[in-house]
Amino acid sequence: MAARVIDGKAVAAAVRERVKVDVAAYKEETGRTPGLATVLVGDDPASEIYVSNKRRTTEEVGMRSIHHGPEASIREEELLDLVRELGEDDDVDGILVQLPLPAHLDSDAVVQALNPEKDVDGLTPYNAGLLAHGTPGLVPCTPAGVMELLAHEGVELEGAEAVVVGRSKLVGVPVARLLLQANATVTICHSRTRDLDETCRRADVLIAAVGVPRLLGAEAVKPGAVVIDVGMNRLEDGLAGDVDYDAAAEVAAAITPVPGGVGPMTIAMLLSNTLQAARIRTTSG
Ligand code: GUN
Repeated sequence: MAARVIDGKAVAAAVRERVKVDVAAYKEETGRTPGLATVLVGDDPASEIYVSNKRRTTEEVGMRSIHHGPEASIREEELLDLVRELGEDDDVDGILVQLPLPAHLDSDAVVQALNPEKDVDGLTPYNAGLLAHGTPGLVPCTPAGVMELLAHEGVELEGAEAVVVGRSKLVGVPVARLLLQANATVTICHSRTRDLDETCRRADVLIAAVGVPRLLGAEAVKPGAVVIDVGMNRLEDGLAGDVDYDAAAEVAAAITPVPGGVGPMTIAMLLSNTLQAARIRTTSG
């Protein structure tokens, strides 16, 4: 039987609508408009599309978009200065430095220069530490989006077997922590995992976030599992996820498509994080 398709576009639209209402209430209460600063180094075409979508939706929900687009040749010290200035600018509530950066720039150093209160990607060691500690903070957008999709689908996580494929700082590790906080039994797989398919087949909830096109097929999916595909791999014939959608959909109970699954959730959660960051700064400042 074919799986139910999880409609990320619709869930993301609902989140954006909720943020829009909350932004209006925040403006009413405080007299200020939350601002999101985006920093895009260089002119990578895919990153340009991502960032322009982030800027457009920021304005659609009633927030301000502030953009910086330094040349790919920028020196690391100059980029660090820009990130620190934005960290001190009172009109800026959230900062997003689009990744990946050109090879001569150390992304860890740039991330560590972010003001943690404005780190709407949840990437700084401070916010990663809060998440590891189980204390509320700014949570990375894609993992937050995955959890929102699971909640929207009514997926029972308490005691469920969850398998995450991929251990990146941006997705794999934080989504595993969120699943653990929701009382799932969590396994993280990576490139050295011995029998990937066998481990994945244990999952009631399978999260693919590894960046290898169509790595997981029907043999990696337990019948009746919920499959969330975070992969966004650009191939000559279009965008492909980390899951072989047609094969997995024959076995799973529900599955996210690529595109139209997790992708739209990332921007929606970025907007939600920006409002959250504005609220934290207004109440603590
Ligand atoms: N590049 C791809 N995804 C992301 C993201 O969520 N945040 C940032 N900053 N860069 C990205």
